[in-house]
Amino acid sequence: LSVHISELETPALAIDLGIVERNVHQMADHARRHGVGLRPHAKTHKMAAVAEMQLSAGAVGLTLAKLGEVEALRSTALDDVLLAFPIVGPGKIGRLLELVRRISVTVALDSAEAAAALGAAAMEAGLAVGLLVEIDTGGRRCGVLPGEPAVALARTIAALPGVELRGIMTHEGHVYAATDARELRALSLAAGRTMVETAERVRSEGLDVPVVSVGSTPSARHIAEVAGVTEVRPGTYVFYDYNHIRLGVATVDDCAATVVATVVARPAPDRAVIDAGTKAVAADRFMIRAEPEGYGLVKGQPGWFFARASEEHGVLLRNGGESADDLRIGDRVEVIPNHVCPMVNLYDQAVAHRGGEVFGTIPVVARGRSQ
Ligand SMILES: Cc1ncc(COP(=O)(O)O)c(C=O)c1O
Repeated sequence: LSVHISELETPALAIDLGIVERNVHQMADHARRHGVGLRPHAKTHKMAAVAEMQLSAGAVGLTLAKLGEVEALRSTALDDVLLAFPIVGPGKIGRLLELVRRISVTVALDSAEAAAALGAAAMEAGLAVGLLVEIDTGGRRCGVLPGEPAVALARTIAALPGVELRGIMTHEGHVYAATDARELRALSLAAGRTMVETAERVRSEGLDVPVVSVGSTPSARHIAEVAGVTEVRPGTYVFYDYNHIRLGVATVDDCAATVVATVVARPAPDRAVIDAGTKAVAADRFMIRAEPEGYGLVKGQPGWFFARASEEHGVLLRNGGESADDLRIGDRVEVIPNHVCPMVNLYDQAVAHRGGEVFGTIPVVARGRSQ
């Protein structure tokens, strides 16, 4: 008996696995063509099934942010992880060392303090932890600046006991602010070149820099071209989202993850209310520069704009005047979120479908594993 996603209890997270497979293989082919490793950031999906798909398509390992995510995904074929988040405090260091005993884990950090604390604990445990120095190529989040600050930290780390300098990394998240395709390409290539130059400067100190790791979804198709970059870490590309549609790097048909919602009220002719608010689609506004923001794209309903959200209610406003499609109480709609990663983290399981035909569920094993 086949079930269509429009018959699901709502709100429901629906994943079109056919689209996921296509996205996974396209990115894997792209990395292969450019001779760089692909290390997808699995915080987007937090699903063992999708991690296995990425690894069997040729990913060299995964990127994750949280120890809890690695612990939850450990049952998969996962044996090589980049933890792209500074590990700070004795509790977390202890858990990290437990993982290091079992699989290859490299940690990205940007301070001598964090590196020294980690190294001291590792040495006491008879271990050595691989580190990447995080470089700020423009995102102004973590990271030391390229050039001398990067060289100085690399030198310090290379001299510390209990840690091993493996290279450098950046997350060039500032590319999301590009206003057109040309600027996106320019920002991506510039970040890649900055990283390669920084690696060269560190090497000129006589230090080994085998890894030059970069990555975001919008930059991936450009930055992989920069000679000297060794791996890319896109994450959102498995599902894509409204940010990527508006940025011009994906189409509606590339978006694999939607929330199926029900129209539960029509309080005014120009207003429809759905049962998906911020606890169903997440509260993220755009990462890109675009107006109007809203809470997502109502798929196939160009006359309706997802204008407001409270926890349980999503408020859709007519924006197409008379030409807007009508919505009736009980109708189902599909929402493509602004930012898919925090949305997936709201669900224990996703409904897997192909073109709307449901065939199973996928547990989101690492959801909520934020420690
Ligand atoms: C360190 C790091 N690497 C890679 C990514 C993946 O980027 P994107 O979400 O654009 O795919 C992220 C995303 O936040 C990140 O923080």
